[in-house]
Amino acid sequence: MSSHGIEVKTADQIKVMRRAGLVVAKALIAMGEAVRPRIRTADLDVIARKVLQDNGATSNFLNYGAEWGIPPYPATVCVSVDEVIVHGIPGDRVLEEGDIVSVDFGAIVDGWHGDAARTFIVGGGTSTEAAELVEITRKAMWDGVAAAASAKRVGDVSAAIQASADGSGRRVGIVRDYTGHGIGTEMHQNPDVPNYGRPRRGARLGTGMCLAIEPIFTLGSPGTVELDDEWTVVTEDNSWAAHWENTVAITEDGLWVLTELDGGRAELAARGIDINDLSQ
Ligand code: MF3
Ligand code: CO
Repeated sequence: MSSHGIEVKTADQIKVMRRAGLVVAKALIAMGEAVRPRIRTADLDVIARKVLQDNGATSNFLNYGAEWGIPPYPATVCVSVDEVIVHGIPGDRVLEEGDIVSVDFGAIVDGWHGDAARTFIVGGGTSTEAAELVEITRKAMWDGVAAAASAKRVGDVSAAIQASADGSGRRVGIVRDYTGHGIGTEMHQNPDVPNYGRPRRGARLGTGMCLAIEPIFTLGSPGTVELDDEWTVVTEDNSWAAHWENTVAITEDGLWVLTELDGGRAELAARGIDINDLSQ
């Protein structure tokens, strides 16, 4: 079923999306545990492939783009270090203490997609301005997710993310060239979910819709440059960027964050919101 071009899922279909989401959540945890000084970004792709295989899932990233004449994406995960904003291709780059590394990963189970991203601080420090950026971006993601619980239109989510950035006490660049998106039987569906905007604008949201909510912020300019590999996107001023993403389902009785092990229970409870875990 669809509503104004947005795929509407049944409760049973959302339960299958949860299976994909859990594979994504587990893989991101495994990759996060592996992040430390001196590993190569390609090492994360090895871990991600194993999680897919062990869970009977396939990759929605691998070979992405083949249909429309851009170089097919060559890995199962995007690993974007420091000034790389998104779509960093895993390779020989070695992580160093104090780097920030965004890990974006997706999976397909029985034809249904999950998509999520986390940004890790290599070595775990928390006192740098980069670490502050990571936390501001993470919080904005959760503020956007929380807004989705009562949002009537996409703009309500977008405005919540923007307000979170603007209220963070630090000036951050909100990247405009990449947005969140609907997700379901394809990874990228309607509607776009920008990380800035005005309340009460945009597509109407409702039960059965699933969104990937994914703020991408920088410590400087929000302007982007795509490298010659036609994938890697860096900041135009070389400032560092962070990216957090979750796939969420809007159910009849509340939100379910499909790409978090706890379904979003803890973070949303802290915002006074109950989740609706359809598996319970
Ligand atoms: N997961 C990304 C997003 O958040 C897209 C990945 S691009 C790919 O929308 F080529 F790697 F698939
Ligand atoms: Co996404």
